Amino acid sequence: MWWYKMGSCKVPYSVLLLCFFVGNFFVPQCLAIGVDANKTALLLVNASEALGRPIPKTLFGIFFEEINHAGAGGLWAELVSNRGFEAGGPNVPSNIDPWSIIGDEFSLIVSTDLSSCFERNKVALRMEVLCDSEGTAICPAGGVGVYNPGFWGMNILEGKTYKVLLYVRSSGAINVSVSLMGSDGLQTLSTANIIASASEVSNWTKMEVLLKANATNPNSRLQLTTTRKGVIWFDQVSAMPLDTYKGHGFRSELVEMLAVLKPRFIRFPGGCFVEGEWLRNAFRWKASIGPWEERPGHFGDVWMYWTDDGLGYFEFLQLAEDLGTLPIWVFNNGVSHNDQVDTSSVIPFVQEALDGIEFARGDPNSTWGSIRAAMGHPEPFDLRYVAIGNEDCGKKNYRGNYLKFYSAINKTYPDIKMISNCDGSSQPLDHPAHFYDFHVYTSANNLFTMANQFDHTSREGPKAFVSEYAVTGKDAGKGSLLAALAEAAFLIGIEKNSDVVEMASYAPLFVNANDRRWNPDAIVFDSSQQYGTPSYWVQSFFAESSGATVLHTTLNSNTSLIASAITWKDSDADKTYLKIKVVNFGSDQVNLTISVDGLEHNSIQLSGSTKSVLTSGNLMDENSFKEPTKVKPAFTMLENAGKDMDVILPPHSFTSFDLLTESSDLRTMATDTFSRSSY
Ligand code: AHR
Repeated sequence: MWWYKMGSCKVPYSVLLLCFFVGNFFVPQCLAIGVDANKTALLLVNASEALGRPIPKTLFGIFFEEINHAGAGGLWAELVSNRGFEAGGPNVPSNIDPWSIIGDEFSLIVSTDLSSCFERNKVALRMEVLCDSEGTAICPAGGVGVYNPGFWGMNILEGKTYKVLLYVRSSGAINVSVSLMGSDGLQTLSTANIIASASEVSNWTKMEVLLKANATNPNSRLQLTTTRKGVIWFDQVSAMPLDTYKGHGFRSELVEMLAVLKPRFIRFPGGCFVEGEWLRNAFRWKASIGPWEERPGHFGDVWMYWTDDGLGYFEFLQLAEDLGTLPIWVFNNGVSHNDQVDTSSVIPFVQEALDGIEFARGDPNSTWGSIRAAMGHPEPFDLRYVAIGNEDCGKKNYRGNYLKFYSAINKTYPDIKMISNCDGSSQPLDHPAHFYDFHVYTSANNLFTMANQFDHTSREGPKAFVSEYAVTGKDAGKGSLLAALAEAAFLIGIEKNSDVVEMASYAPLFVNANDRRWNPDAIVFDSSQQYGTPSYWVQSFFAESSGATVLHTTLNSNTSLIASAITWKDSDADKTYLKIKVVNFGSDQVNLTISVDGLEHNSIQLSGSTKSVLTSGNLMDENSFKEPTKVKPAFTMLENAGKDMDVILPPHSFTSFDLLTESSDLRTMATDTFSRSSY
């Protein structure tokens, strides 16, 4: 007989369960567990081997889209915006925004022409300096020229070094100051001069300058100035901090926030960004590889901004590798929001996808693998998944095009798993696929209810990739606790249904606060700061779930609670944890009794067991630059850790009980006898 211990008296488990089932009406008469039936609940966790089920190793990951300046002006550490002067379009004269001119029409004429040495981005900046350091028209003391404010200010840090690379040409000798300045041009953070004779710069010449900052200013700019008369052309001006994540060009603080989530995959680069409003503006991988100065860049017409494509296909694959996660490449399947390639003409797109796979994982001697090798990565990247388009299922040519991609990829790369845009959760797909994509953006109540979304999905056929989910609209604001709690419930549902859901990721991942194209987002940043929204922190509660074992649980409560339990092993510390997560979506505090079966006596260790709670004073509370941690998990030691625990769930909260166990007690071997009716 299994016994539940409460206070000093022991009650048989079966009696206890019966009491809780009728508890909503008779709790006071049955057991003095709580005075109000709506505020008490019982969670039974069975940690036994027979009822556990392995969670896919890939279950929780991230989805990176170039939206909200997530990459350009965000994750990609390039400080210069519109470095090649191409953003104004291929025709000249063009505007050079956000570059600005230092000087007036008597001292300087700035224009664009098509004299660049780079074939795919011909626009260059022409600077005709009318003033001089001597004679009748003397240049102002600081010189004349141009400056670039970066993406709403460059974050320059004292003691750090920045590498400025640029291409220059002139008909005469040059003396150009390359400076990092405060936004008003008055504070000099670092400066160096490029001095060259006429013969040295008569053709396009690459110059490199290292600038070490003598002060910190998050709102800095890069200046190119001179006091010497003549004509100078500039092109492909880049400024990068030397200090980037693993030296690969990513902004470290932002990648570190991703690493906290222990993502098991990264889906990239979109989203609608992949589709484009028009095909001509869609992200095409071949234009995003090779030397950065040769990349044409493009205008993403869905999110309406230019990107120099410094963060290209290679860099996404590199990011996946640096995070120790699997890349999931979404490519255009010949369909945009407004135009589509007919299936009879889609073969060039199919070939482009095949070439992209070869680029990622082909032999270094292969056509495209050799370009990857030339970029510094002879070893193949671990590309195992591709998604054929994004949200295109309903489009006229989708199925026809999809089948062309599917059969060609399957033939050449039989191990590659393909993801269809069509939802197979409610009815079987009418085409072959390894996974189907599932996106949901909805209200908090709806998403909370959708914790049960996959309960009745067929266990046959392709599995779901919930590649975009979030609470949106007024429930979410710019990232509320309310939205996060509903998402937590939804993720618990996914964890429990991970026999049919293979992967899940929140969307969007990043927003530069200066260009909010989509609310809410997981991580908010500007040039120098970043914070996680409550939705980000919810994801951190699931960082240990992928590859863990989901246990059988029985929850008896009112409907505001959702719970799951997993066991996972911290291999580094050689420790095993039982992690119990509970969302209290209601406005009442709940007194929860947790009872764990299937463990040896005393095998939960008091010391080392912790509790994390995500909650806040107000359901609509958000984080901000001013209060970046207003809604953040609070960690405490769990004073009463044990097989039987009475715990309190605050109103509107998400709690994780992390119970350190003696490893030998947890039997994590799993079978597929797990029952979905476990809640
Ligand atoms: O995540 C934002 C957008 O939502 C994605 O680009 C698109 O796939 C979805 O409609």
